[in-house]
Amino acid sequence: MKKTVKTAILSITAAALLSGAAQATGNLEIFSWWSGNEAPALDALVKLFETTYPGVKIENATVRGGAGTNAKAVLKTRMLNGDAPDSFQAHAGQELTGTWVVAGRMEDLSSLYQSEGWTRKLPKAVIDLISYKGGIYSVPVNVHRSNVMWYVPATLKRFGLKAPTTWPAMLNACSTLKAWGMRAPLSLGEGWTQQMLWESVAVGMLGSNGWNDLWAGKMKFTDPRVVDTFTMYGKLLDCSNADANDLTWQDATSRVLSGQSAFNIMGDWAAGYMTTVKGLKPGKDFAWTASPSTGGTFVMLADSFGLPKGAKDRDSALKWLKLLGSRQAQDIFNPLKGSIAARTDSDLSRYGAYSQSAARDWKSNVIVGSMVHGAAANETFTSGFGTVMDTFASGHNAGLAAQSAQALANRSKLSQ
Ligand code: GAL
Repeated sequence: MKKTVKTAILSITAAALLSGAAQATGNLEIFSWWSGNEAPALDALVKLFETTYPGVKIENATVRGGAGTNAKAVLKTRMLNGDAPDSFQAHAGQELTGTWVVAGRMEDLSSLYQSEGWTRKLPKAVIDLISYKGGIYSVPVNVHRSNVMWYVPATLKRFGLKAPTTWPAMLNACSTLKAWGMRAPLSLGEGWTQQMLWESVAVGMLGSNGWNDLWAGKMKFTDPRVVDTFTMYGKLLDCSNADANDLTWQDATSRVLSGQSAFNIMGDWAAGYMTTVKGLKPGKDFAWTASPSTGGTFVMLADSFGLPKGAKDRDSALKWLKLLGSRQAQDIFNPLKGSIAARTDSDLSRYGAYSQSAARDWKSNVIVGSMVHGAAANETFTSGFGTVMDTFASGHNAGLAAQSAQALANRSKLSQ
């Protein structure tokens, strides 16, 4: 563990002993999808909690699977069976507010926000995402960016290429690399990562206003610009590995590291993986830029934890949430995770080169929400979009995909 992390934990432990936190007891079950090699950042939080509240036993329940595809299904079953974990991970946005909050299953955390002064420490745009009818329903631990392109400088150098900054330039780079014998220049993983590629293409082709109009129901999916988005996405699929459906996001990122592929569009948890798990040096062993055609736009998402009604150990869950919102916890978690703190007062000297650049962009870029990770669209649309994408992948019919997406948007009542 880094020295700064150790020092922070030690000073928090001392404070906890003085404040009587050491006497607290309980059993706290937290639920997330941060397992396996996605776990180190969460593990550091658990450790911090255990050191602060040694009498509270944490059960760290994780369900493996990127983007929570499996975890969300397990959570649903548990919630509906009256077996809620004490606190669970959910993306800020309609993924939480449009589901468990609307259903009246979550506690309003406004009083915690008041007592901790968080309304002044967290960006309004993030608080808005987790608010519903005057209540605030979760505690965001981070801000991730979905529109990042990763590459290895040495690979590009070998082929005399620069990282493409537009989608047409990406297609050119792809042809060049294929001519050199690289079979799949753009690395791609399982379904939700394909949707993230589509998301980056759409933001690039529609611009941030167009992207927002889509989710506000002001632009139809049958608009020629969205049809063009599918067409471009199809060309990018032709530039990708055929076994995408069998690869996790870590596999997809690793293809770039091994030189099998040159580029990967992936949220910046990839930075956490490459630095924390693989021990690579940002800027040297790997580099990044905004996804092509999206420079100046930051597609955001935030991981947060909430408190379901009926939590078995509500007191401990409140302690957990209080800790998550603290500056110390966010500055321990995020440098390992690849994200930046949701809080505006984080100490950037603790972060690596990638996160420092993300923090600058977060301040200066146009911010839009990620559809794939719950911030831009409702759950009905997001969970139904995979079918649209699968159908598109088999026939590459852009017009048909646009129509199916519009039908899904209508069913999902997107604009309401
Ligand atoms: C996202 C989540 C990230 C990361 C990623 C891959 O949905 O917000 O924190 O876990 O999935 O699993």
